[in-house]
Amino acid sequence: MDHCVDPIKVAAWQAERRRRGERIGFVPTMGALHAGHLALVQEARRRCDRVVVSIFVNPLQFNNPEDLARYPRQPEADAGLLRTAGCDLLFTPEAEGIFRDHRPREYDLGGLDLHWEGPDRPGHFQGVVNVVERLFHYVRPDMAFFGEKDRQQLTIIRHVARSLHWPEDIVACPTQREADGLAMSSRNQRLDPADRARAPLLYQALQAVARAAFRSTVDQARQAGLDVLASDPAIRPDHLGIAHPATLAPIDGWDGLQEAVVLVAARVGPVRLIDNLVLQRDGPGGDTFAARHPRHPHDH
Ligand code: PAJ
Repeated sequence: MDHCVDPIKVAAWQAERRRRGERIGFVPTMGALHAGHLALVQEARRRCDRVVVSIFVNPLQFNNPEDLARYPRQPEADAGLLRTAGCDLLFTPEAEGIFRDHRPREYDLGGLDLHWEGPDRPGHFQGVVNVVERLFHYVRPDMAFFGEKDRQQLTIIRHVARSLHWPEDIVACPTQREADGLAMSSRNQRLDPADRARAPLLYQALQAVARAAFRSTVDQARQAGLDVLASDPAIRPDHLGIAHPATLAPIDGWDGLQEAVVLVAARVGPVRLIDNLVLQRDGPGGDTFAARHPRHPHDH
């Protein structure tokens, strides 16, 4: 595995591979890697000739300086995992390098940031898109891989890539979960044992919504999820809502929809966690984990 810090060297690396006609897959991350990230690397391996992974804890997307300072960093362990996973180039830029000659730009996010994480984290998605544009600029991938875990981020990157005619194919990968359903996240490391034990309630809340979806009203389905979260007062919800799958705007009825998305964010101890699930009118819940681990006879 090659390793570059300097973005110019990454540009030279990819130019050489592209000259040979190789397809480059790219997985941008902020490190503290887990099986969710590695599933993206695996999918990139499957679909491309070369795989580039970046690790950069992007200050532009943190609206809370404490969250940035406490974000887990484990460069040696990450490099080891990536070597085993078959990454060809690890790119670990520094802020001065990646943002050299760059003026932060205000992107048109098509209203996709109006709800959920948008109002909860002002400036967050602009920060994400700005860094992803910089990373794409140097890596110039054919395909870039993003997790459904961060549904709103994925939807926004797709939108910007399409509307600005970025050449990258944006590939979505399913959410990887722990055995008890908790969505894998670098932030899970910061949960103490008691909070770790209650964190699966987020996924249970999503499942409660999925069981009620399309059978009862949107309000009732949403309430079923809120009731699950309310069962533990140590969970402090920021939002739980049901959205249109394309616009991510909250819906108030199921009319004409085959699918919807339920999104949740909640603080568990000092950690803010997010999760989401696709709701399908005729399906088991649109989530590979839910399909593999039915919690309820009607899930299948
Ligand atoms: P990070 O949180 O490190 O996530 C990197 C990628 O891994 C994202 O596409 C995310 O959706 C995906 N991912 C995280 N947990 C996952 C899980 N449990 N299952 C499947 N995929 C998962 O997202 C970011 O970093 C940053 O915002 C970034 C895009 C790198 C820009 O700074």
